[in-house]
Amino acid sequence: MRADPLRYLSVELDSLKTQGLYRRLRVLDGEQKAHASFDHTSVVNLSSNNYLGLTTHPKLREAALDATRTLGVGSGSVRTIAGTMEIHLELERRLATFKHTEAAVVFQSGFTANAGTVSSILGKDDFIVSDELNHASIIDGARLSRATIKVFPHRDAKAARNIVEGLPPDRRRLLITDGVFSMDGDLGPLPELCDVADEFGCIMMVDDAHASGVFGRNGRGTVDHFNLHGRVDVQVGTLSKAVGALGGYVAGSRALIEFLYHRARPFLFSTSHPPAVAAACLAAIDVLETEPQLIQRLWDNTRFFKGGLAELGFNTGASESPITPVIVGEGALAMTLSDQLFAAGVFAQGIGFPTVARDKARVRTIVTATHTREELQFALDAFAKVGRSLGVI
Ligand SMILES: Cc1ncc(COP(=O)(O)O)c(C=O)c1O
Repeated sequence: MRADPLRYLSVELDSLKTQGLYRRLRVLDGEQKAHASFDHTSVVNLSSNNYLGLTTHPKLREAALDATRTLGVGSGSVRTIAGTMEIHLELERRLATFKHTEAAVVFQSGFTANAGTVSSILGKDDFIVSDELNHASIIDGARLSRATIKVFPHRDAKAARNIVEGLPPDRRRLLITDGVFSMDGDLGPLPELCDVADEFGCIMMVDDAHASGVFGRNGRGTVDHFNLHGRVDVQVGTLSKAVGALGGYVAGSRALIEFLYHRARPFLFSTSHPPAVAAACLAAIDVLETEPQLIQRLWDNTRFFKGGLAELGFNTGASESPITPVIVGEGALAMTLSDQLFAAGVFAQGIGFPTVARDKARVRTIVTATHTREELQFALDAFAKVGRSLGVI
């Protein structure tokens, strides 16, 4: 009999089980909502990125259904061959106008937007100066570019400046940060990094995945939030989180976007969105522009819930966004906390190494505009009970 050449994978999985880090995928039984059913259990859902509740917004649903009826279920090709539909271009025009940039390009996901952009605009003679907690898609894009990667300590713009100062000025240098860090909910020091980029002539790039639909006027992101229009060369956003559907985009100059049309590998080598996705995203921009009360409610809920966790004595780090981590340290403890919260009717995902540092395991909470106060209070009560019984507070 043939020996299994993949046996080492089972060994690795067994080791995760021994460490209490093995995760079974939870299954969402119905729609992605603030109160949902996972694994046939009704829970207050603090684990989605559905910040504004747009996954089930009637306008998005109708737009997607309409597009499916009139345009079919798939685009049938990559963008550069036969897969560019008018609706894809309409979405890109709307995004550019929304972000106040010359142009925008839509990718299949935020991940491919980051990885495809970083890997194509830089090459092996260039430098990437990157926050140590930047998203995996930035790290992968940086590796694919073959540029030299220099990492600065989290949110330390002075350290970033010191690195940039020592780099050859005749080389391309990309300074890159997340707008909102996905595991900690804190903001990148964008104004200070823009100063460094201006001083040394770097390309400035921000990944606004968790800021899209959340920060800035009508959810335009951190560049708008900090009023840095014209100073960030490459703005990545996602359509998969607050926008409620799927996709990522890059907003910037016309030359940047046309270059990405020609060189970004996910754009060139992977099929474009089904029309329903593009239509839902267009409807989402309408909602962002016409229903600002959703963002207001998101922030009211954020203040309420974050304040409640802090009052209970949890370590919630330095979050400034609707993402609030409850940091407990050890991976196994974070998973136990998450499991016991689930049993108590609250879904807050446990997150351990390698997603976060080994000693910074946590349960991550994300509130949305559509949580009711009763649901949030229910969740706080569950955190209090389980947190005390496990000695976390
Ligand atoms: C900071 C950050 N950037 C990019 C992404 C990728 O976005 P998407 O889910 O649209 O691929 C994520 C999502 O996990 C993220 O948290």
